[in-house]
Formats: sequence, structure tokens, C-alpha cells
Amino acid sequence: MPKLETRFFCQSCGQDFPRWSGQCPACEEWNTLSEEKYSASQETQSSKFKTQNKSQQPTPINKIDFSSEERISTGLDELDRVLGGGVVPGAVVLVGGDPGIGKSTLMLQTANSLKMPVLYVSGEESARQIRMRAERLGTLSKTLQLLPETNLFAIESAIENVKPGVVIIDSIQTMFREDITSTAGSVSQVRECAAYLVRIAKTTHIPIFIVGHVTKEGNIAGPRLLEHIVDAVLYFEGDQHKQYRLLRGVKNRFGSISEVGIFEMKENGLQAVLNPSEVFLSERPQGVSGSAVTAVLEGTRPLLLEIQALVSPSKLVAPRRAVVGVDYNRAAMVIAVLERRARISLSSSDIYINVAGGVSVDEPAADLPMAAAIASCVKNQPVKEKTLLVGEIGLAGEIRAVNQIELRMAEAEKLGFEVAMIPVGNLKQIKGSKLKIAAVSNISEALKHSLDS
Ligand SMILES: Nc1ncnc2c1ncn2[C@@H]1O[C@H](COP(=O)(O)OP(=O)(O)OP(=O)(O)O)[C@@H](O)[C@H]1O
Ligand SMILES: [Mg+2]
Ligand SMILES: [Zn+2]
Repeated sequence: MPKLETRFFCQSCGQDFPRWSGQCPACEEWNTLSEEKYSASQETQSSKFKTQNKSQQPTPINKIDFSSEERISTGLDELDRVLGGGVVPGAVVLVGGDPGIGKSTLMLQTANSLKMPVLYVSGEESARQIRMRAERLGTLSKTLQLLPETNLFAIESAIENVKPGVVIIDSIQTMFREDITSTAGSVSQVRECAAYLVRIAKTTHIPIFIVGHVTKEGNIAGPRLLEHIVDAVLYFEGDQHKQYRLLRGVKNRFGSISEVGIFEMKENGLQAVLNPSEVFLSERPQGVSGSAVTAVLEGTRPLLLEIQALVSPSKLVAPRRAVVGVDYNRAAMVIAVLERRARISLSSSDIYINVAGGVSVDEPAADLPMAAAIASCVKNQPVKEKTLLVGEIGLAGEIRAVNQIELRMAEAEKLGFEVAMIPVGNLKQIKGSKLKIAAVSNISEALKHSLDS
């Protein structure tokens, strides 16, 4: 019987410590340490896969066979895009997201569209429940095998028997290893189960998708502590109450992480959104103040978004600044520049900023539209119709150039925009565009030309 030891595991980064402390010494998060029983010998316990590994010899790099390292298309274009063109054999992909966001739906649709046998292991739902979902989604693929199981060693045997092309584990927080004493969902279980799955993937060359719930609190370990163990990390995000979902890569050992997949949640499952800009602008009010349209880049794709601002007199000593979808500090900077450089008084106003559609923007190119939306609301003059605004704002009030201006303008042109307000510094990159160009160099000039009087 291995000796049991009490250790304290950080729910955020997965590090363990002999003593409790309020702040994690490793990642400096507060109140993330929780007590778990842990047997010291567990990591050294043998497994079939480990012993196979022992016989591995170093090989000259140019002698390593890589012909099999071709990507497997998942059959879902948006997922392939985020993975960098498909999944690599032996890769472990973590799909994280809030509860109920649609992770199981995405995995079931992936299992259905993959052109190979798939083993779908569910620790959360019964086979009947999954069948019901599959009926609704129309994903009753004959090559899809369901296994309601949470014991990792039983899953390992099933993988050996079934020899699937791809394995899906839904979710890692429900899986457990018998040789580890702590409960399923604890940091040590989640970490060791994931490490074990990685070993299975590497020795069998079967790609494994692992579903992980993002948890803000509670005693369930979140997927963040797995990020360094797995090959790729995708987060499924979006507003649960709206139908749009973004699949974003935050780590990818085999591709870029700049790509985003955009889906719409429908009765019959997730559908790729082929014209995202159109969708995000569809409900935009016309001729109303406090709204501006910009083009951001999601990976290599331009996306038109509406930035909204509401400014109202404040009764508070420290007026409210509430932002959704933009970075708080960038918003604070834009507000300060508007006050000092464009002489718009905002210090006694509450300001709310929102990106319509529940999308997040983290690009400086959205500074100018944000400023225009705020000024538009204050002056009660709408931003000129069919005008796209793009530009970074500097602290001196200057409008600075952004990257990929042509891509952004092309998208606006496609959607019927007529004018593009862009930084002067971008002028020389523009070769040909049907849009009328308004090149601006500072914030006052930009506001003068962008608002309807
Ligand atoms: N009949 C339906 N019509 C439309 N959408 C539905 C229907 N049933 C479920 N959904 C959508 O599917 C979502 C749940 O999907 P799913 O079970 O794949 O999420 P999950 O991330 O796996 O959740 P969990 O964290 O519970 O495992 C719901 O939030 C809802 O948006
Ligand atoms: Mg689920
Ligand atoms: Zn930590």
C-alpha cells in the first residue's frame, strides 16, 4: 500500500506544495490551493505504455519516419482551420469552455464528420443521452463507438480493442486513475489522467481530443493546468445566451494560434458561419449616435464589428466605466485622450462600451472607432453612414497605422461600405480600392470628419 501524503494543489497552475498558503507560490493566484491526498509512488507506477517507451533509442533526426505525420481532416472546416489544417496523428488537443457552451456538441459533430472509426468516451452522459443528442444533430455515424466510462485503465483497454482512428474524452474532469487516491476532478487526477492520455496518444499515434470545463471556482481543476501537457489548446467561447460561438486556438504545437472558427448554435447543431461580418452587423441600428463599425483581424480573416458607446451624466463621485468586449485599459486610455486632446469632457459621465455580438476585440485598431462612438454619443451625432473606422490612437492624440489595412478595407467593400477612415500612415499600402478614403492624422481631425452634423 503506497504511503498517503497530504499535499496542497493549486487549482490554477497545478503545482503542489507541502503546506497551505493563501497565495500560490508558483503562479501567485490567491485562494487556489486545496488539500488532496496523494500517494508519493503514483507517478512511478508502471503502465504498458511506459514500458514500451523504455526501448526507445535516440535516432538521427533525418532518419525519423515522418510520412505518417500527415494531418487528418476533421471534416469540419472551422475546426480544421483552428487546428492549422487538421489534427496531427498522436496529437492531444484540449477543448476547453464554459459549462453548456457546446463542447459535447462540437465533439459529436467532429466524431461524425471524421472519415474514420471514432471512440467517444463520455463520463458525463449516458449512452442514451448521447444517442438522443446525436438524433437531434443528425450524427448517427456507423463508425462512431460510444463508451460511457470514467476509469482510465478501462478506456485504455477499449482503445486497444477498438483501435479507433481518433479518441474523444468528454470530459477530463470525470476521468480517474485507480492508482491515484484523490477523487475525479481533483488536480492530481486531472493532471495524471491527462499525462496518461498523452502517453497513449504518443505511443499509438491516435489523436485524442480532451474536453475540459472551465471552472472559475469550486474544487474542480480547470483546463488551464493542462495547457503545458497537451499539444494544442482550443477554447470554445461566446455568450451562452446568444447563438454565436468562437473557437479560438491559444496553443498549437503544429500550427499558428491566430485562427478562429466561428459557429452558430442551432437546433440541429453547430453550423459554420461563412459570412461573419454580415452576421455581426445585421442588427446594427441606422442613424443612431454612439455606434461605429470597425474591421478587426481574427487570424487571417477580417471581421467587421460594431462598437457601441453610451455616455450619461454620473451621480457617482467616481463615474462608472464599464466595458464589454474591449480591453479596460485601452478604453481608459481612449477616454483620457478624448478629454485631453479632443476637449470632450467625460470626467463626470458614466461610460459604457460594448462590442455587439458578444465578441472580444484586443486590437489597437479598434481605438478610433471606440473614440468615435463615445464622441458620437456625447455630441448626439451619428457616425457617418457606411463608414468604416480603423486606427490606433496614441497618447498625443495621433492616429497610428495598423497592419493589413487592405484586407480590412476589402471586407468593408464587400459589405457595401463606401468610406474608410484610416490612419495617414496606411495610405501608401493601398493600391486600389473602391472605397473613398479619408486619411486622418489626429483624433480631432478624425472626429470632425467622421460625425454627421
Ligand atoms: N434543442 C436544442 N435546440 C437548440 N440548441 C440546443 C438544443 N439543445 C441544446 N442546445 C444547445 O446546446 C448547448 C449545450 O451543448 P453541449 O451539451 O454540447 O455543451 P457542453 O459544453 O458539452 O456542456 P456541458 O458543460 O454540460 O458538458 C446548450 O447550451 C444549447 O445552446
Ligand atoms: Mg458536455
Ligand atoms: Zn498556482
